[in-house]
Amino acid sequence: MANVFSIPRFVISGENAINFSLDYFKKMGTKALIVTDASMVKFGIAKSLTDVLDEGKVSYYVYDEINTEPTHVMIDKGVELYKNENCDFLIAIGGGSPMDAMKAIAAVYANGGSITEYMGKKIEKELPCMCAIPTTSGTGSEATKVSIITNTDTEVKMLLIDPKLMVDYAILDHTLTLSLPPSVTATTGVDALTHALEAYTSKKAFSMSDSYAVSAIKRIYANLLDAYKDGKNESARHEMSLAAFEAGAAFTNASVHIIHGMSRPIGALFHVPHGMSNAMLLKTCLEYFKTAVMPELCELAKAIGVYKDGMSVDEGAEAFVAATHDLVNALGLKSPMDCGITKEVFFEKIPKMAADAMTSGSPLNARRTPAKEDLMELYTKFWNDWEVIRASRS
Ligand SMILES: NC(=O)c1ccc[n+]([C@@H]2O[C@H](COP(=O)([O-])OP(=O)(O)OC[C@H]3O[C@@H](n4cnc5c(N)ncnc54)[C@H](O)[C@@H]3O)[C@@H](O)[C@H]2O)c1
Ligand SMILES: [Fe+2]
Repeated sequence: MANVFSIPRFVISGENAINFSLDYFKKMGTKALIVTDASMVKFGIAKSLTDVLDEGKVSYYVYDEINTEPTHVMIDKGVELYKNENCDFLIAIGGGSPMDAMKAIAAVYANGGSITEYMGKKIEKELPCMCAIPTTSGTGSEATKVSIITNTDTEVKMLLIDPKLMVDYAILDHTLTLSLPPSVTATTGVDALTHALEAYTSKKAFSMSDSYAVSAIKRIYANLLDAYKDGKNESARHEMSLAAFEAGAAFTNASVHIIHGMSRPIGALFHVPHGMSNAMLLKTCLEYFKTAVMPELCELAKAIGVYKDGMSVDEGAEAFVAATHDLVNALGLKSPMDCGITKEVFFEKIPKMAADAMTSGSPLNARRTPAKEDLMELYTKFWNDWEVIRASRS
């Protein structure tokens, strides 16, 4: 069977890649809409981009209001600004939120309507040139044909997938990630981990996506904890920026499945950051789908060096699962209860969460394919698992 593997046209990576990119910025257009969040401006990260644009006399307008995971209201405003400021290309600098917002703004600018009408629809018209500069090492949005926008009217995190949402340029400059606090390093790093793990164990995996997934997994297991413990560790940061890109490339071509499918409804309803809800779900979901992918998990055990000579396939797979739990536990992640979610409301929302997860289509890519009822059981188990973990911590 033939497969298509997509990645951005240009990937510029390494220390000071942003300075190196001036000639590319000049080719992108004459006036950029820079999509970012207020912290990027406050920490001087956006300035590292605008200084280069100033030097090259490339005009820009800074839209710095993507301060949380993007909503349809933020997209509407971005489209108006893009038109009113006569921009002809877009640059996102920030985490997945500004990158996803940039893609949605470009899509609505070129195709009209409201982003709330785009879920499940093909994007017809070509988008203006887009450049993504990630400052977290997690979502991989710089490598994906995906944008995730919350419709605040329906409380649904809309998953938009279309080849036109792939950026033209990705700039991977790990020096922009040195200021990431440990908590965000942890949650975004687990997001990248789940991308690679789900891509590798997806029904849609193929050899090219596997290469990227395995490479990402090796880098993450070797470097995430170091980057978490010492945010200024440049080598670990560099490796994590490459890993996030690779994991994004892997999953955009092979798909994520249960963890992401169940994570988005938790994010939309309880406003838990995306990487955090993935991290919370990892244990319960991995236990559920591992039985269908023991040989794949055993291969991953070999890739990260926890497989020992003489182990059976099942023992190898369990060694990988144990290493994953050890890594996630060492990152000090929060429980759902610590994120302010109450049992009563969580249980009341389980039918909606399971239905929304199924509508996204992601869970169907798992090799142990759940029905809506299975997801309802998994949400229940997820809560109960966390009650046990919390009791053991206190
Ligand atoms: N498009 C995709 O393929 C894809 C994949 C996974 C997730 N997502 C989406 O991405 C969004 C989450 O993105 P995210 O996890 O990168 O978080 P984010 O963009 O929301 O940023 C999280 C926080 O980190 C801060 N931050 C970012 N870079 C920093 C830096 N260098 N120094 C200090 N602080 C910094 C931000 O200001 C923000 O407060 C969600 O909406 C999620 O659904 C998209
Ligand atoms: Fe993700």
